Amino acid sequence: MEASLQLVMNSMSLGILCASIVFILVGKLVFSCWIIPFLGYRKLKRNGFSGPKPSFPFGNLNDIKLLSSFSSSSPLSISNNIHSTAFPYFAVWQKLYGKVMVYWLGTEAFLYIADPQFVKEMSADIKGKGWGKPNVFKQDREPMFGSGLVMVEGDDWVRHRHVITPAFSPANLKSATDMLDRWGSLVSSGQPEIDVEREIIRTAGEIIAKTSFGISYGNGRKVLEKLRDVQITLFKTNRYVGVPFGKYLNLKETLEAKALGEEIDALLHEIIAERRTKIRGGEAKDLLGMLMADDKNKRALTTKELVDECKTFFFGGHETTALSLTWTLLLLAIHPTWQEELREEIKLVVGDGELRDVAMLAGLKKMGWVMNEVLRLYPPAPNVQRQARQDIRVGKVVIPNGTNMWIDVVSMHHDEKLWGKDVHEFKPERFEDNIYGGCNHKMGFLPFGFGGRMCVGRNLTAMEYKIMLTLILTRFSFSLSPNYCHEPSHMLSLRPKHGMPLIFKPL
Ligand code: HEM
Ligand SMILES: *[C@@H]1O[C@H](CO)[C@@H](O)[C@H](O)[C@H]1NC(C)=O
Ligand SMILES: *[C@@H]1O[C@H](CO)[C@@H](O)[C@H](O)[C@H]1NC(C)=O
Repeated sequence: MEASLQLVMNSMSLGILCASIVFILVGKLVFSCWIIPFLGYRKLKRNGFSGPKPSFPFGNLNDIKLLSSFSSSSPLSISNNIHSTAFPYFAVWQKLYGKVMVYWLGTEAFLYIADPQFVKEMSADIKGKGWGKPNVFKQDREPMFGSGLVMVEGDDWVRHRHVITPAFSPANLKSATDMLDRWGSLVSSGQPEIDVEREIIRTAGEIIAKTSFGISYGNGRKVLEKLRDVQITLFKTNRYVGVPFGKYLNLKETLEAKALGEEIDALLHEIIAERRTKIRGGEAKDLLGMLMADDKNKRALTTKELVDECKTFFFGGHETTALSLTWTLLLLAIHPTWQEELREEIKLVVGDGELRDVAMLAGLKKMGWVMNEVLRLYPPAPNVQRQARQDIRVGKVVIPNGTNMWIDVVSMHHDEKLWGKDVHEFKPERFEDNIYGGCNHKMGFLPFGFGGRMCVGRNLTAMEYKIMLTLILTRFSFSLSPNYCHEPSHMLSLRPKHGMPLIFKPL
């Protein structure tokens, strides 16, 4: 009798213990998923930021999905007025709440900004080192970027940026001429329609593999293919970024991305290990060589940091450049007079000689305007992200420490108030003698980001762009294929959703 009473008492206290553990866990959960975001919401509201009403726990994700389903593709007409195609939900919300507002990914508040004056004021006192990158993206995109330069912050960022900035070499001509030979034989075998997006991304990938990592296309291709698979997995529309336990709601995608990330890491480990055995016989001057040469002094990157930087550069170093060329070919296909103008300029600057001298590229001025105009109308990096690491005062309002920020570059580049009535027209000449393209605000044109964290690859990009475009223009003329369907879409970068088929004619 007594023993069984003891048992009951024991199990009761065990029950109470369990109950209180559950209670504490639930309390913690409610606190971090609900109370903290709610307090953040109140703070932003008190500061006068409004936006679409969030629901718990999905924030505005359901609105985003719904509004995206209305996004239109058009096989018939091609308009450069792309904001409502690329970001239909922001286009709608801007009309309701203005150019600065708050929206929610799950329980993460994002300050949306499409006003250059606001960008200017908020970044006035903040150095590259003082900016954060949204933690929620850092976790979500770990398989793609790890903690490479795009994602690191603070003193680590300073250390990485210092090691990496000088480490560039000019693009590799051979990959580009191989591509054009391939196009030539396709055309002469009666297949004049070529999907230039796929072709150019592949070639730019080959160039980055060779010039930055000193490896053959075969070895680089595995890394590049897996990076692309991660990108596709991460940008499936049905994901729950920012939702508490969202990764368990997308368990399949999460595990897929993680496994791919590990495979990429393993491939890069191999590449690095192979280089370590070779390094004694003289150091290569490519990106990997320079990253590793710093091994010996105190700035050294760990192997994990090396792997993450390699991932970041493998991806960042080719897709954006390839897309700027892809969108250029679209616009030149629709504007054959600009094809001609550029061919004339190439004749003047390069003549019949070979394009060997990088200094020649500086003479291709009109090509530079075209590049800027393409980066304006179709910015391959359609947004810039930040996270506040301190309270930031902008005029009368305060952006609280920890606030995520999402700067809508597409919107600013297509804002009639900034550029005038002809904002959606392809007019490269607006960049003649004007590095801001006639924009009436200096922060209105941000294809490479802003401040101390601006893109490190922008000079390399300009070089690669001019080399590839010169080679293409001297060998072919091209026009739009009737199979092209115009739907610029946001998949980390701004890509033509249905590829870019063009019709080629040898010159
Ligand atoms: C048309 C081509 C390119 C575009 C449009 C582009 C755009 C951008 C943008 C918008 C950012 C963010 C800047 C910010 O947060 O303020 C960025 C950062 C970065 N880009 Fe690029 N990029 C291009 C080419 C390249 C190339 C060729 C490389 C490497 C070889 C590269 C490597 C990076 C890196 C490492 C960062 C991070 C810098 C940091 O956070 O300190 N990019 N790029
Ligand atoms: C901002 O918030 C983070 C995390 O909550 C904290 O660690 C940091 O000290 C805060 N920064 C400032 C300047 O208050
Ligand atoms: C790019 O070139 C410009 C001018 O030639 C130079 O001022 C700038 O520092 C270079 N930037 C990078 C990131 O290499």
